[in-house]
Amino acid sequence: MMTNADSRVSEGVGGVPFAMRDPLHVPRERYYDRGFFELEKQKLWPRAWQMACRLEEIPGPGDFVEYEICDQSILIVRQDDLSIKAFHNACRHRGVQLGKGTGRMPKGQIVCPFHGWRWNIDGSSSFVYGKEGFEPECVRPEELRLPEVKVDIWGACVWINMDPEARPLAEALAPAAQLLDAIGFANMRVWWWKEIILRSNWKIAQEAFHEGWHVMRTHPQLTMGMGEDYPVDNVEYTTFENGHARFQGRFDPTAGGVAEGRGADQFIERSTTLWEGQDAMTLKRDIDVFMGMRNRVPPGEDFPTAAIAALFEYWQGAGIPVPPKNEGVRLWGGEVFLFPNFFVLPMYGNALCYRIRPHDDDPECCRFEIFSLTTYPEGHEPGRAHLMGRFEPDDAENLGLIPRQDVRNIERQQRGLHSLGFTELRLATEWESPISNMHIELDRYLAR
Ligand code: FES
Ligand SMILES: [Fe+2]
Repeated sequence: MMTNADSRVSEGVGGVPFAMRDPLHVPRERYYDRGFFELEKQKLWPRAWQMACRLEEIPGPGDFVEYEICDQSILIVRQDDLSIKAFHNACRHRGVQLGKGTGRMPKGQIVCPFHGWRWNIDGSSSFVYGKEGFEPECVRPEELRLPEVKVDIWGACVWINMDPEARPLAEALAPAAQLLDAIGFANMRVWWWKEIILRSNWKIAQEAFHEGWHVMRTHPQLTMGMGEDYPVDNVEYTTFENGHARFQGRFDPTAGGVAEGRGADQFIERSTTLWEGQDAMTLKRDIDVFMGMRNRVPPGEDFPTAAIAALFEYWQGAGIPVPPKNEGVRLWGGEVFLFPNFFVLPMYGNALCYRIRPHDDDPECCRFEIFSLTTYPEGHEPGRAHLMGRFEPDDAENLGLIPRQDVRNIERQQRGLHSLGFTELRLATEWESPISNMHIELDRYLAR
């Protein structure tokens, strides 16, 4: 069987070490080889559009976030007119980083901590301490302006690209981003946001989420006791241009036909397992609506359809801007992956998002961030979003059962890759096509 990735596999990968030779195998070195990692640092990260922060991290003028990717640091700064600019984070004098972490620029000024040179938040030079000690050509205001990084907004997130020649964001995210537009992704805000440092390559970590069929063994509680009878082909996978992909259920979840049964008890139990297991995708608010329907649907009738119709009614009544039912509801419980390292698992008016990037200049270490989003009633959106903290992968107090189950495999997989008895990953033709599609796009960046 041909996948739609086949036709794109071999073009332009000359000179890339451990390149993909077909869409069915991934050389293991791509996940730990230093040379491969350096090539990503040189050719992928400085050229790819990346999710740098959520808009609600920088609600007001002067608010900033430092976005770090490998050895690069970018300052994202909210402007007086609420537009956003991004700058390379290095003083024009002797290179000191101008901002660290997140916060608000004091008195609307970016101030270097070394000798006190200052900039307005639009990047123009506003003060040069000791100017008289310099030749005039060393301190010309236009020379001192902070170099800008391309910036754009999509999905209530700020995206950056260090390549001045980069194509527009909308083009780069097409056609996958539009799928999320249809379900009101841009209306969602952070419910919680946590980080884990994982002992794995950034790609291994994200590939744990690019298919749904690991649920049977990794998350047995979600199969409702079906065990190995849990259907492996109840999900369809689509790969797109630009390295993006999607998977979703074969059926419309609002109109019957899911695998796990249509009774009230089963549906509520499964929803509750999802809520308790991760506090994302399904939230307490949704469970309350479902419970309210429990005795209003006659036994033997299709409960999920009625319960989800009640959710749409609830959103409308509460002024929660979830778009009316459309084709996008099939994404619920599925995933949209945006190359290179951001993906969204939507459900109801919620979504679980992940952003994964290299950490500590180590090919086998990554920063693994989880954002649980929900849609708030209009006018009642929460204030500034904050990272709740960095947690250990097995921290049962701060991480739900479902993410802990996923993460356990990730670190074991990274170690397994080094086995003398292992040479390459073998991939399922359709069910793992998002993984090969991602690697093929990566090779295209590395070969350029
Ligand atoms: S290094 Fe920034 S003012 Fe000297
Ligand atoms: Fe999982």
